[in-house]
Amino acid sequence: MDKVDSQKLLKKGAEASLFLASWHGRRVIVKARFPKKYRPAELDAKIRSYRTAHEPQLMHEAKLAGVPTPTIFLVDMKNAVITMEFVEGKQVKQVLPHVSKKAQQELCGRIGVLIGKMHRRGVIHGDLTTSNMILSGEGKIFLVDFGLGEKNSELEARGVDLHLMKRALQSTHYQFAEECFRNVLRGYSEVLGGEDAGKVFEKIREIERRGRYVDERKQA
Ligand SMILES: Nc1ncnc2c1ncn2[C@@H]1O[C@H](COP(=O)(O)OP(=O)(O)O)[C@@H](O)[C@H]1O
Ligand SMILES: [Mg+2]
Repeated sequence: MDKVDSQKLLKKGAEASLFLASWHGRRVIVKARFPKKYRPAELDAKIRSYRTAHEPQLMHEAKLAGVPTPTIFLVDMKNAVITMEFVEGKQVKQVLPHVSKKAQQELCGRIGVLIGKMHRRGVIHGDLTTSNMILSGEGKIFLVDFGLGEKNSELEARGVDLHLMKRALQSTHYQFAEECFRNVLRGYSEVLGGEDAGKVFEKIREIERRGRYVDERKQA
């Protein structure tokens, strides 16, 4: 029997709810996308089942790229529910402020390596925040929440992905965001090589210039 039981609500997000449950004697995470009343029923079903199929596919791709992601156990397309491994650990968001400078630099460097490995395989995460990274008990960094991700090898997609990470660091860890992002980029270039990484960094600068231009136009 594929029975999942003893569910405990962990998080009710805008798009999905997360439950901690038990399945065949192991702890699992159940991610359920419930119907949205404001969408026509047929379209709603399509969106939910698309995302339900899409997220495990990207997690699998990331795993093949050498990036730890939770193992997927069940995908229920009809009810838009994913059952996956529960990664025991802490969100990187909660860890980063409480470790030494050296450990911070090391963690951020490793995050950059993981992003580099994903991008090299054409996987864009889509929501690179330190809440979506879990430092496991064994010290591995797991990436979760691929619901906004895509397969894309273009410079623009890579730049946007990293730029989002920078913005997320600035808002969550403003005390050391700059240094952390520098280490992310260091790890990223170790994987992609200086030349390819350099092109992505130039893209990030271009995205920032575009952002400033839009801000100036808004104020004018
Ligand atoms: N497989 C998992 N194991 C352990 N914790 C998880 C797992 N998946 C998600 N989480 C935790 O739950 C939080 C919310 O899950 P997430 O998939 O990011 O949903 P949302 O789309 O609501 O942000 C994550 O930030 C992470 O801390
Ligand atoms: Mg999330």
